[in-house]
Amino acid sequence: MFAYLAFENFSDELATELKNKKAISDRLFVSETLQKCIWAQVIWYDCEILEIESVGDAVKALKARGKWWALYSFDHHRRAQLVQDQLPKYKMPPMKFLGEVPTQPMGAWTMIEKNKILVAAKTSSPFPLGEIHFDEDKETPPSRAYLKLWEALTVEKTLPAKGSLCMDLGSCPGGWTWVLQQAGARVISVDKAPLDPKIARLPNIEYRKKDAFALKPEEIGPIDWLFSDIICYPPRLLELVQEWRASGLCKNFVCTIKFQGETDWDTMAKFLEIPGSRIVHLFANKHEVTWILTQSA
Ligand SMILES: C[S@@+](CC[C@H](N)C(=O)[O-])C[C@H]1O[C@@H](n2cnc3c(N)ncnc32)[C@H](O)[C@@H]1O
Repeated sequence: MFAYLAFENFSDELATELKNKKAISDRLFVSETLQKCIWAQVIWYDCEILEIESVGDAVKALKARGKWWALYSFDHHRRAQLVQDQLPKYKMPPMKFLGEVPTQPMGAWTMIEKNKILVAAKTSSPFPLGEIHFDEDKETPPSRAYLKLWEALTVEKTLPAKGSLCMDLGSCPGGWTWVLQQAGARVISVDKAPLDPKIARLPNIEYRKKDAFALKPEEIGPIDWLFSDIICYPPRLLELVQEWRASGLCKNFVCTIKFQGETDWDTMAKFLEIPGSRIVHLFANKHEVTWILTQSA
């Protein structure tokens, strides 16, 4: 049995994706099959449902199965916390940008009834319940949007090479542009609104005050990476990506697909038809997902 924990506020999306599932709580679903899904923050593998007689009994059962446990609590909070408090404490330092992703197995458990727990010693993420927290830079970046790019590049273990040419569409106030500039890339930063002055004056950034959709690939020429965090309807972004793909002028893409109102499943499916590409919902993503296509470092 597998359990799927939805990203907070996106249980409906996960429920839409998952087949043959049963809801355990508003965020947790179980299924007998392992399924690919975008909206699960973490998947619990090989789940067991255990009858327990006491708090001590639960502690013993968990310790026998693994060392590190993250509690997802939706009911019986006090009793569940009493169990959790007796398990080894895992102090995970905040992640560094491009830092080593931990490799230790991270278990997850929940108390479904007073005397019944659902446990999995192995999950899809080394982070407790799949929550990735970064050691944030609260000084330089002009907004917290940079955390999405930090997470995407850290988890995907990829980074534009020093001196490579990146285009950042919908770049204002400049968080993503700052990440790329700090990585040593040259950045064409495009937005209708201005960059934060402290980002605009950094070297290797060329700001263009433009409508990203009016910018033709031939006007720009070959680039190594295209990044987009533009607020726009998903089909418009798809058209832009298809235009760049057809031009053959860019091979690597990281784009936020933002939903306004309903989640646009049809356009997500069309993005996924692009060979070699994938869609992830990052921990830092809200009602949006990240489409990634990387073909060269
Ligand atoms: C979420 S913000 C981007 C945040 C940015 N990635 C950062 O790290 O600071 C979205 C941006 O898209 C820009 N935008 C929306 N439509 C655009 C268009 N047609 N052309 C260029 N920029 C556009 C907005 O002006 C806004 O600055």
